[in-house]
Order: sequence, then C-alpha cells, then structure tokens
Amino acid sequence: MPASEEPVTGTDGPSDRRISRKTVLRAAAVLGTAPLLVGGGVALARDRVGTGEMPDYTPECHDGDAPTVEQTEGPYFKPNSPLRTSLITDSTPGTRLTVSGYVFGRACLPLSGVLLDFWQADVNGAYDNVGFTFRGHQFTNAQGAFSLTTIVPGLYPGRTRHIHVKLQAPGRPVLTTQLYFPNEPRNSTDTIYDARLLMNVRQVGSAKEGTYDFVLNVPQTPTPTATPTGPTTPPTSTPPTTPPGGTWAAGTLYNAGDRVTYGGVSYRCLQGHTAIAGWEPPNVPALWQRL
Ligand SMILES: [Fe+2]
Repeated sequence: MPASEEPVTGTDGPSDRRISRKTVLRAAAVLGTAPLLVGGGVALARDRVGTGEMPDYTPECHDGDAPTVEQTEGPYFKPNSPLRTSLITDSTPGTRLTVSGYVFGRACLPLSGVLLDFWQADVNGAYDNVGFTFRGHQFTNAQGAFSLTTIVPGLYPGRTRHIHVKLQAPGRPVLTTQLYFPNEPRNSTDTIYDARLLMNVRQVGSAKEGTYDFVLNVPQTPTPTATPTGPTTPPTSTPPTTPPGGTWAAGTLYNAGDRVTYGGVSYRCLQGHTAIAGWEPPNVPALWQRL
C-alpha cells in the first residue's frame, strides 16, 4: 500500500536547521586545522573528541505523521529487520554507497552495542513494505563504529533524498531520524530536511562514501586521563626510545596506549583497533590523540 510521506512543518525555524558556521569554525580552531571544511564538508561529532566541548545531539526527524505511530510507521518502518550491514547484492541496481561513522554519548565518548536500524527507498524511490529489501539493523562495535553498505536511494515523491534510521543505546529511548545528502536540489524545499543531518559524501570511483557521527543523549563518565594499569612503577627519567607502534600502517592491530608516528607527528592510541585506510590518525580523533 503506498502511503504519502507528507512533509510536516517542524518546530525549528530555518536558522535553527543549519549548522552554525561559528560552531564549525570554533571546532576547526580547536583542532588547529579544518580538513573537513574542504569542499563544504560538514563537521563531524568526532571533531569534538578531546576538546571538552559538548557536541549537539543528533536531532530527531519525523516521518510525516509520527503521532499515530502504529498506523503511520507501518509503510516506512518495519520491526524485525534482518541483522546485516549490507542491504544489497551484486545484482542490486543503483549507485553503491557506504555510510559509516561513530555513535557518541554526552561526553563525546564512543558507544558500543548501539542498535542502528536502517531503511530506505530503492533506486526508483519505492519502499518495500512487503519484504525487507533495503532494511537491516546492526550494532556499533567496540569502538562505537558502524558501517552500512547500500545504494544511493531514489527520490520518493515529495521528499528530498534520505535514509531512515532508528538508533537505540542499551536501555535508552529510541531516536528516529534521517540522513541527508549534500547538493540535493530538493533539500531547499523539503520541510523535513535538517542540515544537521547532512552526511559528508565523497565520490570514490563510481561509488559514494558517506560519513556521519550520531550523538545520543546517553550519560557518560569521562575517562580519567592517563589511568595506569598493571603494577605501579615510579616514573623514570629515561626518555622514550622508538615509539612502540613505529610508523602507522593499515592492517596493524593497535592497543590503547600504543604510540605511532604519522606524517612526522606522534599519536597515542585511545582505543584498541585494527587500522584501516581512512582511519589515519589525523582523521580519527576518537582513536588517536595527537601528542
Ligand atoms: Fe522516507
């Protein structure tokens, strides 16, 4: 049954819907660099890691007529979606898209075990309300990261291009929201659209890579800095020799506390992970602290 997805008038004024340039510039100033601003990119929540600044929560987005949940969510959201990070097969038509990022809590620390349930239209803008095509859920890993493999959704009548997602941290309320694409003509006319939900999207060959960091209203206790583990030994005055991690390299398993150099700069690993291309230390403040 097709259902209308009528835009609704939000409660926020237009000025509230756009990311504050001042906020972006302030975050860039703290970082001492503005790599994500190149090409008009959107600041990611990870930019705030280590700055002591509280990131803005990810805003909620309405499906159009959210108050009557049981009837109106049916055409869009379906419970019991498959557990999977890829919504496509080799034969699925459409432009390949990955959406990846992190989920943070109130202290800007990554949240593991967060449920993300994605659903979207196919290449023709149609939702599968019978089966589970383009529907799937996953959980953030120990580093708070998620990754979705899908296609760029087609345009649904009356809406700009978007992907739906529900997020829930363990024991916390569900956040229902949507992700948007930059440079979409309909972004300026869709009243549900919210610039705070814009992904960074870059072209990689014939595919697109989107990134977005969610921030949930989950209380967190900031981890104390330099918490010693293991036997207590007095500090020595011996200067560090070669950093244990050497030069950062993709494919290497790093543990919290490891030190590496990248581009002539030293970094300390904040969370154990296996390095992959794209997670170079300057790009992932959640994983690497510049020394
Ligand atoms: Fe939709």
